[in-house]
Amino acid sequence: MYGRARCLDSLAEEEQSNTKLDRAILTYRGVVDLADEHPTLVPLKLLLLAAERCIDRMQFRGMTSKALRVQQRLLQRFPEDVNLRNKMGLSYVMMSQYAAAKEVFETVLNKWPNNGFALVHYGYVLRTHDQNNTGAAWYLSRGIESREEGTQDSRFYYGLGDVLQRLGKSQEAYKVYDEAVEKGMLMSRYQRSLYNVDRLTSRPLWTHEQTTYHLFFRNLEQNWELIRDEAIAIMNMPPQNGFLMERENLRETGEWKMFELFSRGRKLTANCVNAPQTCALIENFAPASGCKRGQVKFSLLEPGTHVHSHTGPTNCRLRAHLGLVVPDGVRLRVIDEIIKWEEGKIFIFDDSFEHEVWNEGNETRLVLLIDVWHPDLTEHERRTLDAI
Ligand code: LMR
Ligand code: MN
Repeated sequence: MYGRARCLDSLAEEEQSNTKLDRAILTYRGVVDLADEHPTLVPLKLLLLAAERCIDRMQFRGMTSKALRVQQRLLQRFPEDVNLRNKMGLSYVMMSQYAAAKEVFETVLNKWPNNGFALVHYGYVLRTHDQNNTGAAWYLSRGIESREEGTQDSRFYYGLGDVLQRLGKSQEAYKVYDEAVEKGMLMSRYQRSLYNVDRLTSRPLWTHEQTTYHLFFRNLEQNWELIRDEAIAIMNMPPQNGFLMERENLRETGEWKMFELFSRGRKLTANCVNAPQTCALIENFAPASGCKRGQVKFSLLEPGTHVHSHTGPTNCRLRAHLGLVVPDGVRLRVIDEIIKWEEGKIFIFDDSFEHEVWNEGNETRLVLLIDVWHPDLTEHERRTLDAI
């Protein structure tokens, strides 16, 4: 049975055939079933081989819950196998079942307190799910320092630096970033996006002309009052006016809300009904409306809001802000430059570089945020890069 599964598996790869792959998966699982029914019939080593490949191929096909069930069955047979347990924890993380993931890694760490894989993943869950920065920093740094397989990943370095910054330990954070840069995991200590195209011009602040999109930006500036009026009308719509809270756990205090018009290269028709003129100004300009790695949205920052220092996910876009309502006491930091918006004026930066935002005034700040493709990207890249 195992031999048959291997053959189907190889054929699937050779022919790039999902049908064959699904048959391979079923056959591998047949080995696991057989081992359950007749424990003496299947040598343990063979069971392990079949089950691990079965899990791997299921995950490749996106059958995450099926894979998890095989993992659970396997773990019952090999309760002392720490790698199996860790892999199951990882499955829970990938399925966003963080409570279950925590339990698995806690079990591992109770028995094997120095297991690097469990340490980094436990830290990762503490950061992303529990927002426990102190705990996350402790586990992530111990895990990374173990240098064990599975611990040297850009997301762990990025996450460790991030929690250290939030804990006010900037110097330590930049040490972590610098180490990641040395290992080729991050582009630079300040430009820390993880989804990148290599050869793009890296520059935190951009002039209108440098983007080559200056005519488009000028047209938006010339129409800024009309854009502002549409945004204000939406803000005044009762009671759930369609502005949504930011969900990425980037705020320290206050409220930061968005009203999206385009996202990942698509027009959000239901929202554009409420901002028809703004959407019309954007729609025919493909570098903005077709930017699959960005959005166009109204962004509102209430008084008393602080958005933590952070970096965007990709270097493939530039982020333009058109100031619409700009009270006193608001500012944006990009690396070490402090920027103040101006009503009716567009400011452009590359949000893959570290930035931070404050509204320490008494009134709401409103901007139209327009992401555009990085001008160095070819047409082919704009068509084929995955959406973010
Ligand atoms: C950001 O990109 O994080 C901020 O500039 C967004 C905003 O609304 O200021
Ligand atoms: Mn940002």
